[in-house]
Amino acid sequence: MKFFADTADIADIRELADTGLLDGVTTNPSLIKKSGRDIIEVTKEICSITDGPVSAEVVALDHDGMMREAEVLRRIADNVCIKVPLTIDGLKTCKKLTHDGTMVNVTLCFSANQALLAAKAGASFISPFVGRHDDNGFDGMALISDIRLIYDNYDFGTEILVASIRHPIHVLESAKIGADVATMPPAIIKGLFKHVLTDKGIEGFLKDWEATGQSIG
Ligand code: G3P
Repeated sequence: MKFFADTADIADIRELADTGLLDGVTTNPSLIKKSGRDIIEVTKEICSITDGPVSAEVVALDHDGMMREAEVLRRIADNVCIKVPLTIDGLKTCKKLTHDGTMVNVTLCFSANQALLAAKAGASFISPFVGRHDDNGFDGMALISDIRLIYDNYDFGTEILVASIRHPIHVLESAKIGADVATMPPAIIKGLFKHVLTDKGIEGFLKDWEATGQSIG
């Protein structure tokens, strides 16, 4: 499973990249606003930190406008992945961009039928929003499971990029289902490392080690 950071915060991205476990980054208009940065500049800086896909989202709603914005964004770096919404114009744009060899992440997916359409449009990634799905009384993990089944039935190449992740269980369940990517806030990635028994175990080992009076090297 690939781990993407869902943020435009450069410090967080650098910290995660230093672990060697960061496989890419996703941004969206809300995350760009939160960063307080210019979309072109911050996307360029992110692309200099990771070689993995960096999703940058168009904001136009019509195909021609999306294509114009995509042209601006994809010139930033080779690892820019264009994010388009799951609409007719978004999938029309997806089809054209992927045909030209550009990575496309189809976002704001909330149904398996939408995911089926995105795969037919040649999407590189589909982003089902499990957290928002759960927030509204639907079953986010069932959505991921349905998409996995459909994509395997037809051997679609589109990668399932689980988004809107709220907690580590979303990551765990997505991995058990076989999603390809999890994109999550840096705090959740960091939380995956944590376990109280690991901390207690380290504490106990160090206490006993100090009692030996030894040092290594
Ligand atoms: O990548 C999509 C993600 O940023 C949405 O998360 O928490 O706004 O539902 P959230």
